[in-house]
Amino acid sequence: MVRTMNCDLILALDVETAGEARSVLRGVGDAVGMVKIGLQLFTRHGPDLVKEIGESGHKVFLDLKLHDIPNTVAKAVESLASLPVSMLTLHASGGSEMMRAAETARVSLAPGLLLLGVTVLTSMDEPALRATGVGQSPPEQVRRLARLAKESGLRGLVCSPMEAAALRRDLGGDMTLVTPGVRPAGGDTHEQKRVATPASAARAGANWIVVGRPILQATDPRAAALAIRRELAAANGSNP
Ligand code: C5P
Repeated sequence: MVRTMNCDLILALDVETAGEARSVLRGVGDAVGMVKIGLQLFTRHGPDLVKEIGESGHKVFLDLKLHDIPNTVAKAVESLASLPVSMLTLHASGGSEMMRAAETARVSLAPGLLLLGVTVLTSMDEPALRATGVGQSPPEQVRRLARLAKESGLRGLVCSPMEAAALRRDLGGDMTLVTPGVRPAGGDTHEQKRVATPASAARAGANWIVVGRPILQATDPRAAALAIRRELAAANGSNP
């Protein structure tokens, strides 16, 4: 039986420019628990925008999916340590030594940062995985990499809501699980194929859900975010 975790909302800030990002954040205000900055915004505006958003009071999840030799990834964590970032992603397929090196850098320079392992990208199906030399099915590979991430000292993972319950059972309550692919009931699923509602993701064991377009494209983004948070609060068994 999977225990319902306390689960909150991350807004995926998937916009093109700093101006758009500022305008979205002015609109949602404190209606989101964290903001995810991905490669699109980071490669355009870099650390300056991360700093600005973090210093404006938002918690920042920097989704850079690092994957390189251990020394380079550790140095990247060191370089990011001065930024106001709460969570950072790296690929678990980079291996145990890479994850341990990142974790060592984090402990000494950014103790408040949580490193999240990315297992198998949902864009990879079984044939695509096989073409890279991985013979396991995607769910098997997800569980294998998740265990490796935990053994290597990571305390968080990004996963699909469909995988969250199994990972929670495998890894126990201490692992932070972050799940994209979440849609409010009855909403547009966009191209996301296997979606869960905020409440079902929370019940499956997610600590954070990542939602982008249902908030960014809403007529009233703040109201959309607040509605999702109300649903999470109900699933968490607390008052909104
Ligand atoms: O707009 P939407 O809610 O689909 O955005 C979800 C966010 O989560 C995007 O930033 C997307 O890149 C990310 N993501 C995902 N599925 C994954 C991993 C990340 O949708 N498997």
